[in-house]
Amino acid sequence: GDATKSKIFALPDLIGKRVQFQGWVHRYRPQKTNYFLVIRDGTGFVQCILTGDCIRTTDALDLTVESTVEISGKVEKVKEGQSAPGGIEVVVDYWKIIGLAPGGDDAFEGRLRIDTDPSIRADLRHLELRGETATSVMRVRAALLRAFRDRFHARRVIEVTPPCMVQTSVEGGSTLFEFDYYGAKAYLTQSSQLYLETVLPSLGDVYCIQESFRAEKSLTRRHLSEYTHLEAELVFIKFKDLLDHIEGMICEVVDVLLADPSTAEIIHTLHPEFKPPQRPFMRLDYRDAITYLNEHDITKEDGTPHVIGDDIAEAAERKMTDQIGRPIMLIHFPKILKSFYMKALSDAPEFTESVDVLVPGVGEVVGGSMRISDLEELIAGYKREGIPMEPYYWFTDQRKYGTTEHGGYGLGVERFLAWLLKRYTVRECSLYPRWMGRATP
Ligand code: 4AD
Ligand code: MG
Repeated sequence: GDATKSKIFALPDLIGKRVQFQGWVHRYRPQKTNYFLVIRDGTGFVQCILTGDCIRTTDALDLTVESTVEISGKVEKVKEGQSAPGGIEVVVDYWKIIGLAPGGDDAFEGRLRIDTDPSIRADLRHLELRGETATSVMRVRAALLRAFRDRFHARRVIEVTPPCMVQTSVEGGSTLFEFDYYGAKAYLTQSSQLYLETVLPSLGDVYCIQESFRAEKSLTRRHLSEYTHLEAELVFIKFKDLLDHIEGMICEVVDVLLADPSTAEIIHTLHPEFKPPQRPFMRLDYRDAITYLNEHDITKEDGTPHVIGDDIAEAAERKMTDQIGRPIMLIHFPKILKSFYMKALSDAPEFTESVDVLVPGVGEVVGGSMRISDLEELIAGYKREGIPMEPYYWFTDQRKYGTTEHGGYGLGVERFLAWLLKRYTVRECSLYPRWMGRATP
């Protein structure tokens, strides 16, 4: 009879019906009288059984994993004591190959073993993305972005889309990607913060989820040249409000992901020991962190102890965070380590109202601060950093046209995922990761 066209996710609702669908061969197990297929269409997996005439074809012998097929057959509950995705299987009565994959040594699963040379794996990212782990990471990534948007909406924070092509720097000149813009110098954005600040007077609290670019000259587990940057800017707040907001957002999006059975299952599979963070997060003053490092024999890269004013390098930061074993809000960084726009502490002007959120396994996932609202102080900030003021006129104007206290933060989406899903590197959490020397595929 006529078959109902369907996507795989909907098949469990069609038990007893004849259905037709297309998909990729995820697994293929030919046996004497039954050939077992697992078909994948992006919405789910389904087990199919080929018997009789369906396996007496040359197509059945030629079939390889990753080929595309069209399947028609009857949906049945799996037999007692057997298991299959969705508790169903399709008994196939007609099928055909749409696009044959190479198979043999060139079959994707054969080429991408765990021990495959990392640069070959990177070249084959377009095929690796078909694998179960990569698929799971991308599903959680989509759910994470949805959860953030949902929690922002609940707080009446509005989404905007700032430009990626800019003529100002936010986080210093050393990591800027420069390009020719109709004969003028322009850059790929490092952060949308300055643009977010300019729309506080029109929209109030705002956020964006936008690619940021950093010409990082080192190869680490947590640095990409292009990453997805979730940034928010909040008006009429104090530093404490900023910390509470960041903490609240992180805890709520984790709760949303754990409340959804499909994302919860992936989190539990990839990161079995994951525990949702408890509020409040530990708040650690930078000066106390320096003491902590020295008391725990965590030295600088050159083996010497840390002193006030030192940047805390990636390795030391991760060691401390792993020892403490839960998220830390590291606050009050020295002015000399941070960018020109950060507000000073009123009782210790050499330090700033700044925060990094550190999480086990990754280290820094969030960087944020209160911003200088005073015009003269901002101008002093440009001077201190040797920044030419002219290109920043539109940013400076915010302090002339009704200035106010405000602050914000940026969160690295890939780093957040690496923490949540216990991935060794952020490269696994980007669709097509870019790092030093790699912009293909
Ligand atoms: O700490 P960063 O540099 O802070 C800013 O850009 C601020 N302007 C953000 C703001 O206040 N609106 O970057 C923020 C976060 C980091 O904590 C990190 O998670 C991520 O962006 N990040 C990177 N992620 C991957 N690869 C890189 N190269 C990254 N650089 C920063
Ligand atoms: Mg930072």
